[in-house]
Amino acid sequence: MSARPSIVLSDPPLASQEFDIRPVAGSFAAEVVGVDLGAPLSDQDFARIHQAHLDHHVLVFRDQRITPAQQVAFSQRFGTLQIHVQRKFQLAGQPEVLIVSNIKEKGEPIGLGDAGAYWHSDLSYKDRPSLGSLLHAQILPEEGGDTLFANQHAAYDALSDSLKRVLAPLRAEHSYLAKYEELRARSPWRPALTPAQLAEVRPAVHPVVRTHPETGRKALFVSEHFTTRIDSWPAQESQALLAQLFDQSTQPQFIYRHQWQSGDLVFWDNRSVVHLAAGTPDHLPRKLYRTTIEGDLPR
Ligand code: OGA
Ligand code: MN
Repeated sequence: MSARPSIVLSDPPLASQEFDIRPVAGSFAAEVVGVDLGAPLSDQDFARIHQAHLDHHVLVFRDQRITPAQQVAFSQRFGTLQIHVQRKFQLAGQPEVLIVSNIKEKGEPIGLGDAGAYWHSDLSYKDRPSLGSLLHAQILPEEGGDTLFANQHAAYDALSDSLKRVLAPLRAEHSYLAKYEELRARSPWRPALTPAQLAEVRPAVHPVVRTHPETGRKALFVSEHFTTRIDSWPAQESQALLAQLFDQSTQPQFIYRHQWQSGDLVFWDNRSVVHLAAGTPDHLPRKLYRTTIEGDLPR
């Protein structure tokens, strides 16, 4: 082989976008203003957003006029996307996007209408729960429809040392089925799950206190929606402790309440917060697109 001088053809580095990261007053969350998530993001801009996500746990990107494909592309920079067990509400042609909506067309719901009816961390019932989720506003109600986020690092830090010691070795079961029949009674569109779906949502067991894989910070990792019992504890004691932890995890001082504005895309860290849909009056249409990124095995 003769050595020849080679010409390396590479794209010029992407220019950085000008944008601000502004902590929301009196809260842990932050607003990101001036970025266009539909445009290619330089590695430097991505690193800034990634760090802000770790620091603030909830990022609110204002004025995003982006397509579902662009939401998917941005989400994929953080990891593999997870497909929800309710396939019925996948966006046509974009299976990674789950439609969250209370809208009915010809009597049929077009999306998951009761997403977030109880406090939860997305997909905590999987062996690999979600790293984070992104919701992009499509249609917003004139009133209601807020989403609440509770900081689980703060909830953990505020525990007494003696309770922290009790919790340290504990694990708890998380199950998609925990509230399924209750939700089904209220939302009859919810199908009885097929054997294949049941296999997809077999319960998982996770530490009650998890260590964030990127920041090393501890967080409570239990929720009213999916956590069913403390592993190897008797039922009564298990229920009593979980009730105490659910109450602790959602104290008002740990909560950021998001009031949606047109064009908002909210990206939260499911390892750091639990969240809740505050509720929308039935007659006011609401539609958002969700993408969900796969995370680590909690430890
Ligand atoms: C979700 C969810 C809350 C909301 O989509 O994961 O919990 O306010 N949504 O729609
Ligand atoms: Mn959710």
